[in-house]
Amino acid sequence: MVVWEVGGVWVFGIWFLCCGVSHPLSITLRSSLRIKGILRHGIESKVSLYADDLLLYLRDPLETIPVAESTLKEFGSFSGYKLNFQKSECFPVSRDAHNLTQAAIPFRLSPAGFRYLGVNITHNISSIVRANFPPLIAEMNADFQRWNSLPLSLAGRVQCVKMSILPIFLYLFQCLPVFLPKSFFKDIDKAVTNFIWSGKVPRIRKPILQKSKIDSGLALPNFFYYYLAANVQKICFWLHSPEIDWCRLESLLCSSTSLLAMIFSTLPLSQEQYSVNPVVLSTLKIWSQLSGLAKSQNASSLIPIRSNHLFPPSLTDSTFLQWANLGINNFRDLYENKIFSSFEKLSDKFKLPPTNFFRYLQPVVNVSCFPEINSVISCCK
Ligand SMILES: *[C@@H]1O[C@H](CO)[C@@H](O)[C@H](O)[C@H]1NC(C)=O
Ligand SMILES: *[C@@H]1O[C@H](CO)[C@@H](O)[C@H](O)[C@H]1NC(C)=O
Ligand SMILES: *[C@@H]1O[C@H](CO)[C@@H](O)[C@H](O)[C@H]1NC(C)=O
Ligand SMILES: *[C@@H]1O[C@H](CO)[C@@H](O)[C@H](O)[C@H]1NC(C)=O
Ligand SMILES: *[C@@H]1O[C@H](CO)[C@@H](O)[C@H](O)[C@H]1NC(C)=O
Repeated sequence: MVVWEVGGVWVFGIWFLCCGVSHPLSITLRSSLRIKGILRHGIESKVSLYADDLLLYLRDPLETIPVAESTLKEFGSFSGYKLNFQKSECFPVSRDAHNLTQAAIPFRLSPAGFRYLGVNITHNISSIVRANFPPLIAEMNADFQRWNSLPLSLAGRVQCVKMSILPIFLYLFQCLPVFLPKSFFKDIDKAVTNFIWSGKVPRIRKPILQKSKIDSGLALPNFFYYYLAANVQKICFWLHSPEIDWCRLESLLCSSTSLLAMIFSTLPLSQEQYSVNPVVLSTLKIWSQLSGLAKSQNASSLIPIRSNHLFPPSLTDSTFLQWANLGINNFRDLYENKIFSSFEKLSDKFKLPPTNFFRYLQPVVNVSCFPEINSVISCCK
């Protein structure tokens, strides 16, 4: 597969970038100076490789495709890895790439979209949802129709849902960072309920069936929870692996705040104000859904002290960037045993220069945004 230069907004597939492995072919392609990958915010993506599914991201296609082609052929002659040019597809993304003709390239031109690792990739989020989820629901309904004639018990039917239907949905939830409305899950639940009760009136409520077996349920999967978990897992990458390419890219796409400030902020927040990237927006919307469910929508004291929209001085004053380098990453770091540290204590612990005293006074004003620790402050006053 070949994807050409993406024009305008980055729309999809960022998470695929983490599939890149240290396969000799991917090393060869990545290290070739003549193969120009797609550049976004200084981050160049050239290749994703999973098993034998190769995805190349190329810019200046007329110049770069022949180089990529000869590299692949040369690699094939040494390794026996053969690229099937007939089966390979080009997906032009930028406006200029759409001008190119089939005659100019050795791959099949497929401007509408292509399939990578079982996922249909198209130009934008709304069309990507349409290309993937409705076909899957239709497939599920067809499966249910076929299985309906089988003499299966209630427990057997729950197992069918768990072993055959859930994994396909879960895979898409993990691959596609898209927000799905509640009605989507209602439709799935309706079809599942209809199947497990063979179209009859249910005799046990769904929440009871969804309980684990230890709690005397049947562990019927809750698709909505799987979707939340699959997406929120990506937020763990924002937190713990910010150096991964797609995390860096998503972070660079945030203006006048940061990813961490948004997830620890008061929810739901009007994300449109801060980030224009639809992938980040979807993830934040899903995070808000989960926070609403967990009834914890207050800002957290883990909110970063730099690039934080709730703490305006951090957006203009680079001193707070230096504080982060010294180890003061979030508001909680300003506390010791739930008491706001004095400036002397902080300078001692983090080696703050004495000239930073004025900066120290700024977060003191702003801690009122965190009721969780603010209650501690008021009782210390
Ligand atoms: C692509 O075609 C449009 C008009 O159809 C033209 O304005 C534009 O310059 C072309 N771009 C390239 C790179 O040839
Ligand atoms: C999304 O892409 C489809 C074609 O793939 C197009 O018809 C539609 O207008 C696009 N929507 C947006 C919002 O760009
Ligand atoms: C992708 O599209 C094809 C038809 O174009 C469809 O058969 C297939 O089910 C779709 N894939 C998913 C994951 O929905
Ligand atoms: C959230 O903040 C409000 C006050 O702003 C407080 O009453 C409430 O207890 C807080 N909730 C949690 C879970 O901390
Ligand atoms: C934080 O303090 C600034 C003044 O330094 C103020 O403008 C801003 O509204 C405060 N933010 C919150 C959430 O209280």
